[in-house]
Amino acid sequence: MTRQVDSVLVPKVLDHIRAEIPTMEEHLVGTSNFALEINRNQDLGYTDEQVALAALCHDLARLYTKDELVHELVSRGIDPDSFGFSHPILLHGYVSEIIAVEKFGISDEAVLSAIRKHTTGEKGMNVLDKLIYVSDKIESSRSFPGIDELREIARKDIVEAFPRVIARVISMVVARQFPLYYNSVEAYNEAISGLSDRNGLEL
Ligand SMILES: [Fe+2]
Ligand SMILES: [Fe+2]
Repeated sequence: MTRQVDSVLVPKVLDHIRAEIPTMEEHLVGTSNFALEINRNQDLGYTDEQVALAALCHDLARLYTKDELVHELVSRGIDPDSFGFSHPILLHGYVSEIIAVEKFGISDEAVLSAIRKHTTGEKGMNVLDKLIYVSDKIESSRSFPGIDELREIARKDIVEAFPRVIARVISMVVARQFPLYYNSVEAYNEAISGLSDRNGLEL
């Protein structure tokens, strides 16, 4: 069950998820609930509506096929190759952003940025970008070794949690021998440079 948010748009997005992509509901509502809890406890400066919309919309295109993702971009004059990904699935954040704009009329750049950047991370991420990135990876339906410790850190300080979570994601990408994209490397390098206790970073 999703946390209550004062918004006209949030119920519309939820209705869409339940009708069109019901298998994504648990993950999207889980991401939203985790992010809302942190936003409320850490006073991050974003409204609940911004947080819920970014969280609920981040994977709107997650179930699109590779061909559909490419088509959605090409039909709008966007070159999919310009992103430099050899795996089209990594384009789903950009297509989710398009759906958020065109279907729900979302124009808040903070919300759109968080949707766009959630997959690989990117240089220059703001706190909402980091909140959605982290919540996506460690919300309640996710499970991997060490996740409870990451959740604990995130519940204390989302900015401190971000480099640890992206480090974990990068290590899993490398372990599975998937390509590692420059966006993730830049986001990681920037994030660790701001850590208060770099020696405490456990990879
Ligand atoms: Fe995603
Ligand atoms: Fe996700």
